[in-house]
Amino acid sequence: MGNTRKERAVIVTGAARGIGKGIAEAFLEEGAKVLLVDHNRENLQETANAWKRAYGEDRLAEQVHDIRETAAATKVVDFAVQRFGGLDVLVNCAGIYPSRSALEITEQDWELVFDLNVKGLFFFAQAAAMQMKEQESGGRIVNISSTASEVARPGVSHYCSSKAAVKMLTQVLALEWAPYGIHVNAVGPGLVETETLLETLSTEEAKKEHLEKLSYCPLQRAALAREIADAVLFLVSAKAGYITGQNLLVDGGYSAGRVFQNSSV
Ligand SMILES: NC(=O)c1ccc[n+]([C@@H]2O[C@H](COP(=O)([O-])OP(=O)(O)OC[C@H]3O[C@@H](n4cnc5c(N)ncnc54)[C@H](O)[C@@H]3O)[C@@H](O)[C@H]2O)c1
Repeated sequence: MGNTRKERAVIVTGAARGIGKGIAEAFLEEGAKVLLVDHNRENLQETANAWKRAYGEDRLAEQVHDIRETAAATKVVDFAVQRFGGLDVLVNCAGIYPSRSALEITEQDWELVFDLNVKGLFFFAQAAAMQMKEQESGGRIVNISSTASEVARPGVSHYCSSKAAVKMLTQVLALEWAPYGIHVNAVGPGLVETETLLETLSTEEAKKEHLEKLSYCPLQRAALAREIADAVLFLVSAKAGYITGQNLLVDGGYSAGRVFQNSSV
């Protein structure tokens, strides 16, 4: 069949706030048609209404869903196809990052993180890939992982494990879906000062720890959501035509090693 649509049709999950919002807007600026998905009705509506005025009603749509409900995935993909005539790109960005020590984590804490960050992400990728396979036009899937997929951190064992799972899922799906021309990659942000992250800095101790984390970053600053979006745009562009199964860390050098002065050993 192949793709005869002029504008690319894109789904972004977790698009009401933070990094997902930055990614969705970057696609709109590029001329794509974007379906925003989030479980926060109020934030989603506010974002979608502002963008409908800025980019035009026909360029975007919104759907309120909890990504943890696996049935949402096919509903969202079907909606995108009905509205935009097909699906070219899925960005799986919805995710949570609560902290709790490994001695205190409950089964409920664990499931909350894995049901969204891993299970929900997987079923959205599966529903998107089924559609892309049927279209015979290939497609691009980008999963938002984290530096936590590769660098261990105390206090977030469930989160680090979930992001390591995202990295491995990305590799396996890239292998399985390469025959259909579907590229699957991940982008792993370092620190991005989103509203949610800033809300976690309510105590002096948390603020101190945040500054300490930033000091470990060779570029000595947090990323802008737009800088994460730029990496996503690259991975779905023709310039990334030979890239699949990768976990691109966009972290100001954080994962490259520690910054020590005058240390030779
Ligand atoms: N902010 C960072 O420093 C950072 C660093 C590394 C990775 N990440 C990853 O980036 C992604 C986005 O993080 P963020 O900082 O922008 O978070 P955020 O909280 O600002 O945005 C996440 C969005 O996802 C939505 N969401 C949460 N649970 C959902 C659910 N069950 N169903 C549907 N939507 C849901 C929220 O309503 C929100 O709009 C996450 O996967 C996170 O792990 C963030």
